[in-house]
Amino acid sequence: MQPTARAAGPASSIARTVPGPPTPSLLTLGPRGAPRAAVVIAHGEALLEENEVTHFVSADIFEPQDVLEHPLVRKYLDFSKPIALLQVGTLHHYTSDNGAELMREYIDAMAPGSFVAISHFLDPETPELSPLARRMEDVFLHSPMGSGMFRTKEQLREFLPGLEVIPPGPGEEPDFTLSDLWWPDGPRLRPLSPVEQCSAAAVGRADGPGLQGSSGPGTWIETRYEAKARREGRVPNYLTFRRK
Ligand SMILES: C[S@@+](CC[C@H](N)C(=O)[O-])C[C@H]1O[C@@H](n2cnc3c(N)ncnc32)[C@H](O)[C@@H]1O
Repeated sequence: MQPTARAAGPASSIARTVPGPPTPSLLTLGPRGAPRAAVVIAHGEALLEENEVTHFVSADIFEPQDVLEHPLVRKYLDFSKPIALLQVGTLHHYTSDNGAELMREYIDAMAPGSFVAISHFLDPETPELSPLARRMEDVFLHSPMGSGMFRTKEQLREFLPGLEVIPPGPGEEPDFTLSDLWWPDGPRLRPLSPVEQCSAAAVGRADGPGLQGSSGPGTWIETRYEAKARREGRVPNYLTFRRK
């Protein structure tokens, strides 16, 4: 779980570095007991010795209660306030088909206004790309990793039960989209490769009006920055809509 993770220096290879205020962030690593996870945690803790806002927990993320009840999770994350749960590149290692149940356990623990972000291998269901997705899945399955599911968009939606999905860009439908196309920083300089077209991402908001209302009558307004970007035909970099 990483509400605006902010990891210093080399640790950013483990924690995604997001500019922002020093909010406590929590990383879960590796299934319980995995020896490599213990090494990663020891290494990470050494790197973050002077970083008071990032903490590691050794837990199986597919056992939500183990994560949610972990003493460090309880110590550093305040579940009475909105938090962000980043399932980035993780859920494709979950091979069961009850993804909604799994995520529901996390979502139920999160305060209204919390966000869930997901990126996941995608089967785009086209004659050109499906065979590639299935080939990659087969390779991952038979690699030391042992998992890497390529799910369809319909299957991916299961991971956001009851959440209000945020549109992945201005004027876009609220849904999963290709990971590289989720709120892009600017125009693409080259077409996406076939492999890049096999990864999808979405963000959902728990129990709130969400940003979907931004296009509706009167609930949300753009910041001046976003309004200016739109006037100039640019895509704003950040989601900073304000509620009226
Ligand atoms: C593709 S990496 C993504 C890492 C990170 N979220 C990122 O975006 O850089 C997938 C990670 O999921 C971790 N992982 C897979 N299954 C897990 C489980 N059951 N519990 C905890 N971590 C797990 C792996 O150890 C690996 O670090």
